[in-house]
Amino acid sequence: MKILKVKNYDEMSRKAANIIAAQIVLKPQTVLGLATGSTPIGTYAHLCELCKNGDVDFSQVTTFNLDEYYGLDPTHEQSYRYFMNKHLLTKVNIDLSSTYIANGKAEDVEAECKRLDNLIEEAGGIDLQLLGIGHNGHIGFNEPSNEFVKDTHCVDLGETTIDANSRFFENRNDVPKRAITLGVKPIMQSKKAILIANGDDKREIMKKALFGPITPSVPASILQLHKDLIVITPLDL
Ligand code: F6R
Repeated sequence: MKILKVKNYDEMSRKAANIIAAQIVLKPQTVLGLATGSTPIGTYAHLCELCKNGDVDFSQVTTFNLDEYYGLDPTHEQSYRYFMNKHLLTKVNIDLSSTYIANGKAEDVEAECKRLDNLIEEAGGIDLQLLGIGHNGHIGFNEPSNEFVKDTHCVDLGETTIDANSRFFENRNDVPKRAITLGVKPIMQSKKAILIANGDDKREIMKKALFGPITPSVPASILQLHKDLIVITPLDL
């Protein structure tokens, strides 16, 4: 694992965006794995800027998002499809039909999970996976549990996750209780992964994830076994 200690959120975002842009320059048909949440917003803003300036071309890029709330329509303002379109996908020259996010309204959830796993496999796996981390150590919505789940699946969200995400909803009861998330297999098989984390509230969980025991009770700890992980953070770890 490589840890890039940066000064602040902006430097973290620029570094992450530059690595993603370099990946696309070197391989225009890159398959990107993307995250939502507050942390990557700056990274996406810099990527939009790089694309606007002609420094990176998304026209042949394919993207897969880590997760989506179960029950939310893609047009819902808190859906992750809405978030991705707003912060990145409609602002760069990507073909939207090459951007995949689980359909939170899918009637057959299992079929939807299988569809995503097949699409990732057909795309040849993820070249570069961008990750944030939850306060409970989740990656995507792989919540703390007794085992690492390999494939895309539907999960019950933990109370800390619902609490953390309630800041985006009018009231806590509106936060969906379930989500569809990629499993750890495509994340661990990604050729390169970037983990970004910002804010003192993430320091303890980052220490546990990166230097503690590898355990499904801290899902991000499995990243210690990733073959090419770059951690970018202003936190003292
Ligand atoms: C969302 C995702 C989550 C977030 C995590 C941190 O797609 O992958 O694991 O990365 O919940 O969220 P923020 O960045 O809002 O602290």
